[in-house]
Amino acid sequence: MKDFEFYNPVKIVFGREQLAKLPEQIAAGTKVMLLYGGGSIKRNGVYKEITRALKDYELFEFGGIEPNPSYETCMRAVEAVAETGSGFLLAAGGGSVIDAAKFIAAAAVYKKGDPWDILSKMEPVEEALPLGTVLTLPATGSEMNKNSVMSRKSTNEKFAFSSPAVFPRFSLLLPEAAASLPPEQVANGVVDAFIHVTEQYVTYPVNAVLQDRMAEAVLLTLVEEGPKAVEDPSSYGPMSNLMWSATMALNGLLSCGVPGDWSVHAIGHELTALHNIDHARTLAIVQPGIWEVLIEQKIEKLVQYGERVWGITDGTPEQRAHAAINATTDLFESLGVKTRLSDYGVGSDTIETIAKRFEERKWVAIGDRRLTTPDVVREALKRRI
Ligand code: NZQ
Ligand code: ZN
Repeated sequence: MKDFEFYNPVKIVFGREQLAKLPEQIAAGTKVMLLYGGGSIKRNGVYKEITRALKDYELFEFGGIEPNPSYETCMRAVEAVAETGSGFLLAAGGGSVIDAAKFIAAAAVYKKGDPWDILSKMEPVEEALPLGTVLTLPATGSEMNKNSVMSRKSTNEKFAFSSPAVFPRFSLLLPEAAASLPPEQVANGVVDAFIHVTEQYVTYPVNAVLQDRMAEAVLLTLVEEGPKAVEDPSSYGPMSNLMWSATMALNGLLSCGVPGDWSVHAIGHELTALHNIDHARTLAIVQPGIWEVLIEQKIEKLVQYGERVWGITDGTPEQRAHAAINATTDLFESLGVKTRLSDYGVGSDTIETIAKRFEERKWVAIGDRRLTTPDVVREALKRRI
């Protein structure tokens, strides 16, 4: 096992009717800025419950944060925070609103120049306004991590940043609020959480026995409960299991002492930036391609994954690895998540655009052992046309 440090200060409040506990989480007298997206929280009653719970606070609001939140919108929110003197940000919705809140929290107190540098130049974030979240969509794990992914519309770029300063102070996880999700969004959540695990698990063996077992536990839960949650988002049992699985998939626990790959996410972000494909769907396209190209290098973990998650025990290691890859794409397709570029109208010209972007950024080799070169990107995407 590799050496590691683990720190996660996020308080989780999970379950039914938890919004009544909001005032316990935010100091009295704090000016709160409520951040939300396109209005789902108004339609499913979450907005009403938040305003009721925070009736004794000075509450401001900024809505209209889009999926794949844009720098442009967030900078308008930064102005609203300054104008109102808000001292606490409350994000209500999915990963996009939460990621936006993290960026707004950092940008609101950023003194070193243009906050875009946090994303494009990886300028460190040392301080941020405090924030909390109300989660209505199980997928990203943003509710319990220090990551944020932002897009810039004007340049079609999508970058991530990470800082302990943007850990939420608390997150209220509400499976009941996720009942209003369209099944496609629930399917996205299953796939995103699934790939968060595989990015940390299908790498190479380091004798991290417990981490592997925990990763497999999350994957098995997603395989069992995910389809049920997609089938009926209002079914509390499956949705609650999906929500906690998605949180556990990316709260730092699975990455303790193991290598991480994350090249599927890096490539996927380009597909979203260039073609506005939902984040999870980009991962469903890219992951099988990366596995096919790097099958030799990842063979041990692919075989382990196949055996322990899918019960694949017959054949040579190569055959078992291929069977595990096919089982994964079959799962995604069965949830209605298409796994080929052509399913989204994306042609081969995009493959070269993405590989060139990697070359221009000098991302000459990324992934767990720096195996993902621009040529590997080309080859992986070619296999997914
Ligand atoms: O905007 P509203 O009206 O709220 O509608 C949203 C949005 O249209 C809707 N929605 C959310 N909760 C709902 C609901 N609709 C009905 N009922 C509800 N209960 O769902 C749509 C998608 O929401 P979004 O927040 O975009 O989805 P998701 O949670 O999948 O977040 C995706 C974003 O997170 C980033 C992605 O890149 C993408 O930008 N990621 C963040 C990560 C992190 N911070 O650690 C890791 C991930 O790998 C990912 O990159
Ligand atoms: Zn993801």
